[in-house]
Amino acid sequence: MNPRTDARVTLDPEDWDEFRSLAHQMLDDALDYLQNVRSRPAWQPMPDSIRDSFAEPVPKVGIGAAAAYADFKERILPYPNGNIHSRFWGWVQGTGTPLGVMAEMLGVTMNPHMAGFNQAPALVEHQVIRWIAELMGYPVTSSGLLVTGGTMANILALNVARHAKCGFDVRQKGLQGTDAKLLVYGSSETHNWASKGIELLGLGREAFRVVPVTPEYTIDVASLRETLQRDREAGHLPICIIGTAGTVNTGAIDDLQSLAEIAREYNVWFRMDGAFGAWARISAKLKPLVAGMEKADSIGLDLHKWIYLPFDCACVLVRDGGLHGAAFASTASYLTQYERGVIAGGLPFANLGIDLTRNFKALKVWMSFKAHGLDHIAKVIDQNVDDIRYLAECIRQSDELELLAPVPLNIMCFRYVRPGLSDAALNRLNTEVLLRIQHRFS
Ligand SMILES: Cc1ncc(COP(=O)(O)O)c(C=O)c1O
Repeated sequence: MNPRTDARVTLDPEDWDEFRSLAHQMLDDALDYLQNVRSRPAWQPMPDSIRDSFAEPVPKVGIGAAAAYADFKERILPYPNGNIHSRFWGWVQGTGTPLGVMAEMLGVTMNPHMAGFNQAPALVEHQVIRWIAELMGYPVTSSGLLVTGGTMANILALNVARHAKCGFDVRQKGLQGTDAKLLVYGSSETHNWASKGIELLGLGREAFRVVPVTPEYTIDVASLRETLQRDREAGHLPICIIGTAGTVNTGAIDDLQSLAEIAREYNVWFRMDGAFGAWARISAKLKPLVAGMEKADSIGLDLHKWIYLPFDCACVLVRDGGLHGAAFASTASYLTQYERGVIAGGLPFANLGIDLTRNFKALKVWMSFKAHGLDHIAKVIDQNVDDIRYLAECIRQSDELELLAPVPLNIMCFRYVRPGLSDAALNRLNTEVLLRIQHRFS
């Protein structure tokens, strides 16, 4: 007997028929779970017994797929944070779609390596990027990459901005290449990816010039200009202005036209964070709100928010595709490219970001765009904004509720008010109301 063949082990099912029937059960359960989402609470607290049960030891001996699935159904499935539910409010988190679930399954079935390679999945990502660029008003010479989220999209773009505007070879010399202080500008309502990114790129948090906002929570353009002027006169090196279309707190949209003009005047990069708000552009009704975003040097946008795809999926676009590549491209002997064969076409996606091994995110975008069509998706976005505007109107007419900020898009901040209570007391009361709603009525 050949000991090598005798000892062979595998992670494939021992009995494919049995596995197929379990897999069908999983799929049926998953579809029931999605179809009946409204019949469950959005969120429920976990009993201590469930919470404590996750301290179990490393499973050295397997229990089999059926038993592992039963365990998943009992201890995990009933306890999500709730974002796929129609009564989940309070955070900017997408829901996913049933088709997105299926596309994700098909994508991981193929499980292609998405650094690039000579394969149809790579063409799908190229096509999806082209579609998104076109929708955002970007030229064909722009480039883009699907990434995990808005945070990653923004940080990659900030790296391109640093490369483009620092005036020396930052890839070679790092931040030792200059004595000048490289500075980034954004409003106090900028999402905290900016602090994380600025730290990560070695600029230090002090390099983030936090510009005050107007009563509408948009960047104060005059103040931005003054800060830039002062910094330039002090010999500093401004490299990037961050504008936001749809801030995470209130949905505010910065004056993007003015930001584009100022960026040109001061020769800095204009980075547009449109994590969800950029998609207003695909709606004829909302498009004027984000006018000017197409002038940005780079746009970031999430597909796991207003395009409703399952996590994770976002996109970074860079107007000057050459610059994007120049900021990230690198080679290695084990990645040598040939003109024929599996690696023909190279590894374009690995060369536009940090990740080498990437999953097939593009399939869920491609299938969703094709199946639903962008006109339909735009209608869903319109409907979302109409609903919020209706709700805002109800709140304006209520004596007991108060709107706390303008409602330009799909985010609304409001609270319960009771005469005679201080602001701090009202905030405490509203926090309590919020938490009780989560615990009792979700
Ligand atoms: C305006 C804005 N930028 C960036 C982000 C971060 O995106 P992600 O959570 O996908 O990393 C968010 C998330 O809500 C956001 O609203």
